[in-house]
Amino acid sequence: MTRTVITYGTFDVVHIGHINLLRRARELGDRLVVGLSTDEFNSKKHKSALLNYANRKAVLEAIRYVDLVIPEASWEQKIEDVKTHGVAVFVMGDDWTGKFDFLRDACEVVYLPRTAEISSTEIKQTMVSSATSAST
Ligand code: CTP
Repeated sequence: MTRTVITYGTFDVVHIGHINLLRRARELGDRLVVGLSTDEFNSKKHKSALLNYANRKAVLEAIRYVDLVIPEASWEQKIEDVKTHGVAVFVMGDDWTGKFDFLRDACEVVYLPRTAEISSTEIKQTMVSSATSAST
């Protein structure tokens, strides 16, 4: 039987931390579904993405560890997604430790160690400060 893993995120300006997370998540099963935050959901979370949903989705779909990308439009959809996609393992980085333990009744919940010293926010801040110093 196929063991399906699911994870969620914004995956803006994809970096090695994302790739490590996706590879390790995929290794916990044989099919990886990624719930990708929609632009509207990002606004609700007060999170801004440099790349829009279609762009972020195209990048994720090209990654060998990713089998399916679905929209993440709300916090509440996770339990439905677990049922709809027959999920055995729910995975997030350990910055989310404990936040999704309520799913343990429905599937395994695993928090993987975050890759140190890299984030989309940090990359975007570096881009802004390089642009600012280049123009002065
Ligand atoms: N992640 C990770 N290691 C990193 C960055 C992210 O393991 N260095 C994981 C997160 O824990 C999450 C997934 O990648 O499970 C998607 O995270 P996302 O929020 O899209 O990436 P960040 O780089 O953390 O973005 P931001 O800086 O905007 O929070």
